[in-house]
Amino acid sequence: MVSSKVDRRAFLKYLGAGAIAVAGTAAGYYVASKQPVCASTETVVVTSQLAPSVAIQTLTRTITETESRLASLRDAADARGLLVGTAVEPNYFYDPPYPTILAREFNFATPENAMQWGTSNLSEGQWDFARADALVEFADRHDMKVKGHPLVWDKFQLPGWVNSDLSADELRHAMQERIQTLVGRYKGRVYAWDVVNEAVDDHNGLRKGLFFNKLGEGYVAEAFRHAHEADPDALLFYNDYGAEGLGGKSDRVYQLVKKLLGNGVPIHGVGLQMHVSAKDYPDPREISTNIRRLAALGLKVNISEMDVRIRDLTDSLPKRLEVQQQVYHDIIAACVQEEGFIAVTFWGFTDAHSWIDSWFGADDPLLFDENYKPKPAYWGVLEAILGE
Ligand code: G3I
Repeated sequence: MVSSKVDRRAFLKYLGAGAIAVAGTAAGYYVASKQPVCASTETVVVTSQLAPSVAIQTLTRTITETESRLASLRDAADARGLLVGTAVEPNYFYDPPYPTILAREFNFATPENAMQWGTSNLSEGQWDFARADALVEFADRHDMKVKGHPLVWDKFQLPGWVNSDLSADELRHAMQERIQTLVGRYKGRVYAWDVVNEAVDDHNGLRKGLFFNKLGEGYVAEAFRHAHEADPDALLFYNDYGAEGLGGKSDRVYQLVKKLLGNGVPIHGVGLQMHVSAKDYPDPREISTNIRRLAALGLKVNISEMDVRIRDLTDSLPKRLEVQQQVYHDIIAACVQEEGFIAVTFWGFTDAHSWIDSWFGADDPLLFDENYKPKPAYWGVLEAILGE
């Protein structure tokens, strides 16, 4: 069967129905076939959309197994050597569509809350790894990489015993013990870590939180050094929001990581969270420029927590979903073009479970609806990863 670029959406929907397809080369050819296409030489008949005057071209090419299985975000990402991920909450594993879609569509998992300090170490000296273990075991079973999150973050979910009553030395010891315990437990099984989350202030310098106030700005470097010592092979990321495009906070994040690198701190990447509104989001061209300058430092870059709110739009729901699709597409299409960009992670994948509803009000920010059906946003992401 042949699909043309004109009815690409139908093709992608067909693709999403589990069809086996071969995405063409840069020539923009698509072929959809109901029959599994094995790694063999196949005669593939395509219509070229680049030269409509050209009659049907017969193209014989060897089709690799990977190319012939572009039936999910994960397959499309695998074909490009990218990671496509989602925040994961093991408490939802009981609901069959959740783990099914998680394993089918994603090759990269980040714990939404399972590794928060308040979850894994509620009382001093007491550790609870049940949810974190469940996530890492699921990822192992489904050949998914894991990004641990977050090692050091003092805005939310600190356990009660980690507070300003601790002396600087006690807090420093607590931070070191958390990092060594958690990173050490998953050594060789967790691919990357958000070592420090949201340390840069929205307006000036570093955020004046518990760690900065007690330990000074040096806590950032200390955290990275402890993490590297606990697992020298893990990629270590700095993660933040509001620094995706260009501007004051983006510049401060850039200066922070540049300084860390200059001081020999083992930092390997930056996570750009990308919590945005379809009404107001960073210019994809500025995101590209930002990724380029971070990559020029030798750092890897990932979108680490993407969701696109649509509650601020005033159009009909179908129109808002269409705008959302375009925003997902345009941002990700800009990022995947950049050297050094390794992954896009969504902060959840179903509107049934998003932090947005409780923090901003009811919304539909993710790729699948409450009934786990792919939304237009899903197709926008697939097309962006496919290079369309
Ligand atoms: O588990 C408790 C539950 O026992 C209790 O009954 C309930 C009511 O208080 O709270 C539950 O904990 C909540 C937790 O999410 C699990 O649902 C916390 O109160 C709530 O603060 C926590 O919110 C999380 C938030 O980080 C703060 O930690 C969100 O789910 C999570 O999506 C959000 O994720 C952050 C990233 O880690 C860092 N970047 C920003 C992003 C969004 O804020």
